[in-house]
Amino acid sequence: MDNCQPREVTEISESALGLSRRTALKALAVGFAAIGLSTIADSAMAAAKTYKICKTTDVKVGSARMFAVGGRGIVVTQPKKGTFKAFNANCTHQGAPLAAKVGAVRTVSGSMICPQHGAGFDTTTGAVTRGPAAAPLDKITVKVSGTQVTVSF
Ligand code: FES
Repeated sequence: MDNCQPREVTEISESALGLSRRTALKALAVGFAAIGLSTIADSAMAAAKTYKICKTTDVKVGSARMFAVGGRGIVVTQPKKGTFKAFNANCTHQGAPLAAKVGAVRTVSGSMICPQHGAGFDTTTGAVTRGPAAAPLDKITVKVSGTQVTVSF
């Protein structure tokens, strides 16, 4: 059998696979590097951009706040003093944003509460703490330098 026959290419969305864009880019970079295409691997990783999202004082300890950055909603949390986490702001149940607009996300006992149907997500891990959502929030890489909080995706 001829292995050079054209194959049908099917478009697969990242969300259908449950992957974040950054996770998909990392996997792509590892795949390219594995077959010796390090320049392409470097380009795939460079496609993940870093954004200055807020100052450390913008997110109080124990709270969560939604921001619009890079064309998407991102939630930044500070579950413990000096520990910052970031997640995709869209609920994994039916995709509603975790806040009606940029600003505070309602939290109860360390969980972010989706305003649509009440799902809860842990402010430290993004894990589901209350249904109807079944999947955790996608994690976003977050870094703090001085008082500047940045996210990369
Ligand atoms: S969309 Fe969030 S709980 Fe349904």
